[in-house]
Amino acid sequence: MNEPPKRSSYFHNWISVIGGIFSVFLFAVLLFLFILDFWSKQTNPYLGAITYLILPVFLITSLLMIPVGALRERAKRQKRGYVRRFPSIDFNNPTHQKVAFATIGVTTLFLLFTMFGTYRAYEFTESVTFCGRLCHQVMEPEFTAYHHSPHARVACVQCHIGSGADWFVRSKLSGSYQVYSVIAKKYSKPIETPVKNLRPAQETCEQCHWPRQFFGAVEQDHQYFLSDEDNTAWKTRMLMFVGGGTPPYGKKEGIHWHMNIDNQVYYVASDQKRQEIPWVKRIRSDGVEEVYVDENSGFAPDRPPQGELRRMDCMDCHNRPSHNFKSPSEAVNEAMAYGAIDRALPYMKREAVKALVGNYSSHEAASVGIRSHLEGFYRNTYPDIAETKKKELGQTIEAVQEIYKTNFFPKMKVSWKEYPDNIGHLIFPGCFRCHDGRHKTSDGKVISNSCYSCHNIVTQGPPAAMEADVNGLEFKHPEDIGEAWKETACFDCHTGT
Ligand code: HEC
Ligand code: HEC
Ligand code: HEC
Ligand code: HEC
Ligand code: HEC
Ligand code: HEC
Repeated sequence: MNEPPKRSSYFHNWISVIGGIFSVFLFAVLLFLFILDFWSKQTNPYLGAITYLILPVFLITSLLMIPVGALRERAKRQKRGYVRRFPSIDFNNPTHQKVAFATIGVTTLFLLFTMFGTYRAYEFTESVTFCGRLCHQVMEPEFTAYHHSPHARVACVQCHIGSGADWFVRSKLSGSYQVYSVIAKKYSKPIETPVKNLRPAQETCEQCHWPRQFFGAVEQDHQYFLSDEDNTAWKTRMLMFVGGGTPPYGKKEGIHWHMNIDNQVYYVASDQKRQEIPWVKRIRSDGVEEVYVDENSGFAPDRPPQGELRRMDCMDCHNRPSHNFKSPSEAVNEAMAYGAIDRALPYMKREAVKALVGNYSSHEAASVGIRSHLEGFYRNTYPDIAETKKKELGQTIEAVQEIYKTNFFPKMKVSWKEYPDNIGHLIFPGCFRCHDGRHKTSDGKVISNSCYSCHNIVTQGPPAAMEADVNGLEFKHPEDIGEAWKETACFDCHTGT
C-alpha cells in the first residue's frame, strides 16, 4: 500500500500554503500602514481606504484560504480512502498542548486587531475625509462650500445621519448604493435636491441648536454695489425677528417660534424642488386647523395638489446651511466690501459678474477666461487704467478667479442656479412661496406679507448719507425703479447676476 507519511498535515497543500504566505505578508503591510496612519498628522483618504477597507478584505480572503485548502485536502484524502476520522486532540500530549495554546493566542490577537480595525473602518466611513474627498469630483462642490460655511467643523454625518442604530443602518445601506453609483458613474449631475429621506431636523440640527437658544432679533449687515461706472455703494442694516424661545427664556414670537415650537405648519408643493407651494395647513396650538391656498393656483382647501404632505422644519428655510453656492452678484458684493476686489476700478461690479457667468468647462478654463475678459475690457475701454493700475487689476482678477473656484463647479454642473436658497426672497421665492399675500383661508385670512413682519430695516442708503431709525424705515430701493418693488416680487427682476 502506498500510504502517505502518517504525520502529513492537511495543511500541506498549495491553497493553504499560498494563503498562509499571503496572510503573513498582508498582515505585515497592514500593520505598517496602520502605524503610518496612526502617527501621521494628516489623514490621507486613499491610505485610509487601503488600510481600513481594501487590505482587510484581502487578508480575510487569504486567511480563509488556509482552512479551505485543508478541508479540500481532507475531502480528497477521504475520497481516496485513507482518512476516516477527525484527528483526536489530547491535552496531555505536550505537542498538542503547545499547538492549542499557540492557536488560541494567535486567534485572540487577530480578533483584537480585527475589532480595532473594524472600529477604525467605521470611524473612517464617518469622517469628513471619507464623505468629501474619496469621491473627489462628485462631492467637490459640497465639500468646498462646506469649508467656507459656519459648519466647517461639523462632520457631514452630524447633519446627514445623526445618531442611533436605525439611521446608522439606513445610511450604510444607501451609502453602499452611493459608492456603487460613483464607481459605475450612475449619479446625476448636479446631485438632485431636495435630498429625499434627509433625517428630520429635530434629530440633527436641534442636537446643537435647541429651541431655547433662540430669542430676540439678529442683526444683518448687507453691502451692495451697483453696476454703474462708480460701483455706487449701498448699505442696509436690518434686524431679523428670529424670536423663538420658551417663555422663561424669551418672548414667544417671530420667525422661529411661529414655525416650529408651538405651531405646526404642513404644506404640499406642486413641483419637485418645492419652489411652488400653493397649499399650506397650519395647526394652531389650540388645535384649530387653518388651510391657506394660493388664490391663483386653482387648488382648494379640500383639494390639495398631488404629492407629499410635508411638515415644515428647519430645512424648509435653512436648506443651504452648509452648501451655500453664492450668486455672482452676492459674491462680488462681498469681495468688494472687504476689499479683495478693487472698487475704484470703473464698472468693476458689472464686469466681474459678467466674467463669472461665462460658459466654462473647468476651473482652469474659467481662470483663463476670467483673466482674458477683465484684461480685455480694461485694455479696450480704459487703456490708461490698465497701465497705471496693473497691480490692483492683477489682485482683483485673482479674487474673481477664487470666487469662481469656490462657488462654481462645471464638472458637476453646480452653481447657485441649481440649488435655490429658501432663506429670504431676493433671488429665489424663499419665504414668499407662502408669504406672497396671495395665500388665503376661505374666510379671507392672509399669510402675512408686510415688510415689517420678518425684519426691520434700521439703516439704509449710500454710506455717505445713510438714514437711520431703530423703529424701522420704509425700504428704499437702491436704484430708482419707482414703486415697482411693491408690485413685482424682488426675484422676478433679481436673478443673481
Ligand atoms: C449643517 C449641516 C450639514 C453638514 C455639516 C453637511 N451637510 Fe450636506 N446637506 C445638508 C442639507 C440640509 C442638505 C439638503 C439640501 C436640500 O435638500 O435642499 C444637504 C445636501 C447635501 C448634498 C446634496 C447636494 C446639495 O448640494 O444639496 C450633498 C452631496 C451633501 N450634502 C454632501 C455633504 C458632505 C460631503 C458634507 C461634509 C463635507 C456635508 N454634506 C455636510 C446639511 C449639511
Ligand atoms: C454638531 C453641531 C451642529 C449641528 C448638527 C448643526 N449645527 Fe448649525 N451651527 C453649529 C455651529 C458650531 C455654528 C456656528 C455658530 C457661530 O458661528 O456662532 C452653527 C451655525 C448655524 C447657523 C448660523 C449661520 C450664520 O450665518 O451665522 C445656522 C442658520 C445653522 N447653524 C443652522 C443649522 C441647521 C439648519 C442644521 C441642521 C441641518 C444645523 N445647523 C446643524 C453647529 C451645528
Ligand atoms: C420659517 C423659516 C425658518 C425655520 C423653519 C427655521 N429658521 Fe432658523 N432662521 C430663519 C431666519 C430668517 C433667520 C435669520 C438669519 C438669516 O436670515 O439667515 C434664522 C436664524 C437662525 C440661526 C442663527 C440665529 C442666531 O441667533 O444667530 C440659527 C442657528 C437657526 N436659524 C437655526 C435653525 C434651526 C436649528 C431650525 C429648526 C429647528 C430653524 N432655524 C428653523 C428662518 C427659519
Ligand atoms: C410653507 C409655507 C411657509 C413658508 C415657506 C414660510 N412661512 Fe412664515 N408662516 C407661514 C404660516 C402659515 C404662518 C402663520 C400665518 C401668519 O401668521 O401669517 C407663518 C407665519 C410667519 C411669521 C409670523 C407672522 C406674524 O404675523 O406674527 C413670521 C415672522 C414668518 N412666518 C416668517 C417667515 C420667514 C422669514 C420665512 C422664510 C425664511 C417664512 N416665514 C417661510 C407659512 C410659511
Ligand atoms: C416672510 C418674511 C419676510 C417678508 C414678508 C419680507 N422679508 Fe425681506 N427678508 C426676509 C429674510 C428671511 C431675509 C434674509 C435673507 C438672508 O438671510 O440673507 C430678507 C432679506 C431682505 C433684504 C436683504 C436682501 C438680501 O438678501 O441681500 C431686503 C432689502 C429686504 N428683505 C426687504 C424686504 C421688503 C422691502 C419687504 C416687503 C416688500 C420684505 N423684505 C418682506 C424675510 C422677509
Ligand atoms: C422691476 C425690477 C426690480 C424689482 C421688482 C426689484 N429690483 Fe432691486 N434692483 C433692480 C435693478 C435694475 C437694480 C440695479 C442693479 C445694478 O445696478 O446692479 C437693483 C438693485 C438692487 C440692489 C442693489 C444691487 C445688488 O447688489 O443687489 C438691492 C439690494 C435690491 N435691488 C433689492 C431689491 C429688493 C429687496 C427687492 C424686493 C423688495 C427688489 N430689489 C425689487 C430691479 C428690481
